[in-house]
Amino acid sequence: VDRSGHSLSVLNYKGDLLPLFPLESIHRLEHFVFRDDDILISAYPKSGTHWVWEMVRMLKTGQTDGLPLVEKDDYMIELDVTDIATMPSPRILTTHVLFRQLPGLRSSKCKIIFINRNPRDVAVSFYNHHVKLKDYYHYDGSWEDYFHLFLHGQVDYGSWFDYTRDWERVLPENPHVDVLTVFYEDMKENPAAEVTRISQFLGLNHERAFIQSVCDKCDFASMRQRKGKLDATSDGEPIMYRKGEVGDWQNWFTAEQVALMDEVCKSKMANSAFKFRYE
Ligand code: A3P
Repeated sequence: VDRSGHSLSVLNYKGDLLPLFPLESIHRLEHFVFRDDDILISAYPKSGTHWVWEMVRMLKTGQTDGLPLVEKDDYMIELDVTDIATMPSPRILTTHVLFRQLPGLRSSKCKIIFINRNPRDVAVSFYNHHVKLKDYYHYDGSWEDYFHLFLHGQVDYGSWFDYTRDWERVLPENPHVDVLTVFYEDMKENPAAEVTRISQFLGLNHERAFIQSVCDKCDFASMRQRKGKLDATSDGEPIMYRKGEVGDWQNWFTAEQVALMDEVCKSKMANSAFKFRYE
């Protein structure tokens, strides 16, 4: 509940906050079996999961053709477990949960792409996500009030700060895990360089021209046009493809909010090696 009394509906599952997904699929997280050739895209919500999923799909299939609109544009472990179990390899999966919530990862050889995005833009993006997805969240508070919910992790998947620190801590402790870290801001600035890194990480050897066509097809405007209808609100407004920019926070944050978030960042992220860019 925010400080003006608006509530945001989430599920408290053994102390972890999750969206109101079917309990059945959430239970199965604990028993989820990874295949060695799975590719797992892992990120706090609103960090560019759909974007990277689409890049990886194109890199793996060697095709840049758009999916027909009836198909999905991500396969999230905590939501789609049934479908995923019968999918042919190689599976391209996504998740927003913590490492410890997927015990199967401890013994898996799958490849993980970990996406980071600066917390100010994530907060704004998540606010828009929460107010647009009325069926899940029933939230109608203001940005001003929501900001405090985000800052204190009272949203699904909990605190961005705890989430980011946790992955950063856990990965070196599990050296068998093959992980590539990418930043949303780098992908915006130099998509070809980042798509090349992802391609090489996946063991693929694509020509420069193909990499460029992946970048073009995965450009925000192109993805919004091709895929925006997959999960639009009833008035046709795409939920997952909103603005696609670095720095939109400047249109939302007050100076006080910047200072408050910086304070939390300082205490929670004190030993983090991640350097976030806000512009
Ligand atoms: P904004 O709300 O700031 O626009 P996720 O897929 O993890 O839910 O992340 C959603 C965020 O990524 C949204 O941010 C969305 O617009 C942005 N996004 C989606 N596709 C993108 C693309 N092709 N290029 C840049 N940003 C993209």
